[in-house]
Amino acid sequence: LQDIVTLHNGVKMPGFGLGVWQVQDGDEVVNSVKYALKAGYKAIDTAAVYKNEEGVGQAIKEAGVPREDLFITTKCWNADQGYESALAAFETSLEKLGLDYVDLYLIHWPVAGKYKDTWRAFEKLYKDGKVRAIGVSNFHQHHLENLLVDAEITPMVNQIELHPLLSQEPLREYCQSKNIKVEAWSPLGNGKLLDNPVLKEIGEKYNKTVAQVILRWDVQNDIITIPKSTKEHRIIENANIFDFELSPEDIQTINSLNKNERTGADPDNFNF
Ligand code: A2P
Repeated sequence: LQDIVTLHNGVKMPGFGLGVWQVQDGDEVVNSVKYALKAGYKAIDTAAVYKNEEGVGQAIKEAGVPREDLFITTKCWNADQGYESALAAFETSLEKLGLDYVDLYLIHWPVAGKYKDTWRAFEKLYKDGKVRAIGVSNFHQHHLENLLVDAEITPMVNQIELHPLLSQEPLREYCQSKNIKVEAWSPLGNGKLLDNPVLKEIGEKYNKTVAQVILRWDVQNDIITIPKSTKEHRIIENANIFDFELSPEDIQTINSLNKNERTGADPDNFNF
């Protein structure tokens, strides 16, 4: 596997990894992470609210991959936002993962009235060396603008729902202007894009699957991508995207599929 993205603090992050949202703790997540590490994945994206940090940590230990070769992301859940509670939530995540640092810690959603205090806690964790990078998730431009009014450290990453039906071009441009790397959650549209006829036709040209076409589109657009699968053959398939290049015309065709269509909640209208 290749593709390394350099965050604005110089930390190098794999541009491709495994997402484990909706993966059960225990055997399911342990096996998924082990399949991924065996296939050469270096990055794993979890969250406190996924309730599978323990399994992720177990798989890392059992796989025997050196810690410094891995890039582990986890997230602070909404109920834990606020200065002291975010610091405490971080320690809980660290303990569940069985790690002594995480590579990237994200604010999961922009909880109104709370995320600025949460960010101060994140800045402390960063300065204390407990996290190599800090960022946010599900932030619109206006959330970022508001955060940056008081932030000492600009988030290194904004992880958002992003796939060909929700290409997020304006937010991507804004993030780029602030040196914030964009990371896609549900890059495959939570599986809903896999029978798209336009993507199928592009895939046939390159002898690649729809999933591979989408993930390659991410990589070529400097979008960090973390597809989820629990099946070993798909985990292998999804990583097999570094031996071909989509033409500019095909990239354009995929761009034109955008419908601003979400599969998940809008960050301006969530209630959890
Ligand atoms: P499964 O875990 O059974 O493989 P996203 O990352 O966009 O949320 O998409 C995840 C969904 O897509 C899951 O339902 C996953 O199912 C499915 N999926 C992941 N990779 C592939 C693939 N290469 N081919 C078909 N389905 C896939």
